[in-house]
Order: sequence, then C-alpha cells, then structure tokens
Amino acid sequence: MTASETGLSSGVTTALGTAPSPGAVPAPAPSPASRALRLVVLGRQGSGKGTQAVRLAECYGVPHISTGDAFRSAVRSGSELGAKAKVFMETGELVPDDLTVGIVEEYLAGAGQHGFILDGFPRNVRQAEALARMLAPARLDVVVNLEVSTEEVLRRLAGRRVCTNCGANYNVVDNPPSVPGRCDVCGGAVAQRADDTEEAIRQRLEIYESATAPLVDWYKEEGLLATVDATGDPDLVTERVVAAIDAATGSL
Ligand code: AP5
Ligand code: MG
Ligand code: ZN
Repeated sequence: MTASETGLSSGVTTALGTAPSPGAVPAPAPSPASRALRLVVLGRQGSGKGTQAVRLAECYGVPHISTGDAFRSAVRSGSELGAKAKVFMETGELVPDDLTVGIVEEYLAGAGQHGFILDGFPRNVRQAEALARMLAPARLDVVVNLEVSTEEVLRRLAGRRVCTNCGANYNVVDNPPSVPGRCDVCGGAVAQRADDTEEAIRQRLEIYESATAPLVDWYKEEGLLATVDATGDPDLVTERVVAAIDAATGSL
C-alpha cells in the first residue's frame, strides 16, 4: 500500500507543516547541530507527546510524525488504511503492527531520512525491534520518556479538545480556544477525539502498561533513555526535554 493510496502523506507532519501549538511561547533556541536528531518520544496517553513533539520539531528543525495523527488523517481521507485503523482506534486498541510498521518505514525512507521525532511509535517491543532494523546501521540518538501520573493524564484527557481541521491541541481547563469550539489557528471546529471517551481511555492506559511500559526498560538497557518530569507548565517541560536531549547527545 502506498502513501497516495492511504492518504497518509497528509498525516506526516514536518517541521514546517506541524500543527501549531496555540498559546505556546517560542521554543528554546535550537542547539547548534552538526547532524539531524533521531528521537523517540515515549509516555503514557496524555503525557504531552504531541504537545512537546511539535515544539521539538521546530526547535531542532526535524520533521515530526505521530502515528496517531497519521491514522486519524487516513480515517478522515476515507482510505482503505483509515477504514482498517478506525475499528481499533475507536475502542483504544493498538492498530496491528504490520499496518503501523509499514507507514513508519515509508516515512523514514522519505521525509524522515535526515532526522525525525517519532511520537506514538514504537508502542511495543516488536515495533521497537522493527525500528532498530529500519535504522541499522544507524541508531536512535535518544528516547525521551515523559513521566506523568495516571491521575494527571486522566485530568488532561478529559479536558482535551483538538481542531478537526489542523490538529491544534486545546484543553478546556488549561488552554481553551478564544472562541469556544473554534480553532484560534485556522477557525476549524474544535472537538473531543473519538477515543477520548472514558472507556477508550481506560483501555488505552491498560495497553500502555502491558505493551508500551516495557519499552522503558528496553531503552534503558540500550543506554538511550532520558526520563523527564512532564508535569507543570508546558514551556517548562520543553526546557527540561531540550536539556535532556542536549545532555544525552552532547548537542550532536
Ligand atoms: P495517539 O494519537 O498516539 O494517542 P495516545 O497515545 O493515546 O496519546 P495522546 O495523543 O492521547 O496523548 P499525548 O501524549 O500526545 O498528549 P497531548 O500532547 O495530546 O494514538 C491514538 C491511537 O492510534 C492508539 O490508541 C492506537 O489505536 C493508534 N496508534 C497510534 N500509534 C500506534 C502504534 N505505534 N501502534 C499501534 N497503534 C497505534 O496532551 C494531552 C492533553 O494534555 C492536551 O489537552 C494538552 O493540551 C494537555 N497538556 C499537554 N501538556 C500539558 C502540561 N504540561 N500541563 C497541562 N496540560 C498539558
Ligand atoms: Mg498525541
Ligand atoms: Zn485548526
């Protein structure tokens, strides 16, 4: 299945094309990099992977891919992939590995070939092994693990609203759009995600514990893990993440 068949190309955001984060202050100045960053952002649902990945893409000048955004885009486009993914996403299940690995492989051979920020992939050990094979002989530079308590992510997800047009992220409590229901960036409709229901959130968090949490130890053993406290103001979290990346990579 190709990108044109799936409509996935529009789900792959780049440093220029990433959904903006309304209300965000400019990201910290990029570190002088002689080589592009290869980064994975890990963290449970609602830990802020998407929020931070958008800022990091701008900061380091590398494209950002969220497999969740890519699947949502495929669902919107009505593609064959979207129809397959929708069934799993709505109940909070993982989309099967063969579909997910295929889109990341395509991305890494294209827009991501000179560095990337992966958000929401890998999500289990099989996907992590597939990623290592795709990159070989190169490796990831660092895996940032955003640490937030379950109580806090439940609070964040209950309040999350997303622009159905450009993907900009809001929170009805902390960061509402200026006009209720309308995106500050593009004027599109701002709505709750289909998988932000109580039942689907519970299912996603359970899958995180059983399938994704083991990656924390996996990447620790590989010497790639940088755990960051992802609570508090999003700008502060960005500062901590940038400091962790720079410490881990020696600014590349
Ligand atoms: P995906 O879209 O990746 O969803 P997720 O993993 O459930 O993660 P979220 O997007 O919910 O959370 P986030 O960490 O990005 O947090 P955010 O920045 O939005 O995946 C969706 C589905 O697609 C999966 O369930 C699965 O079906 C499928 N899928 C995707 N990848 C797959 C894979 N690899 N394999 C198989 N299936 C796959 O922040 C959340 C809220 O908190 C927002 O309202 C935000 O404004 C707010 N917020 C962020 N930071 C802060 C802060 N510091 N303080 C206060 N509020 C904050
Ligand atoms: Mg996300
Ligand atoms: Zn918008």
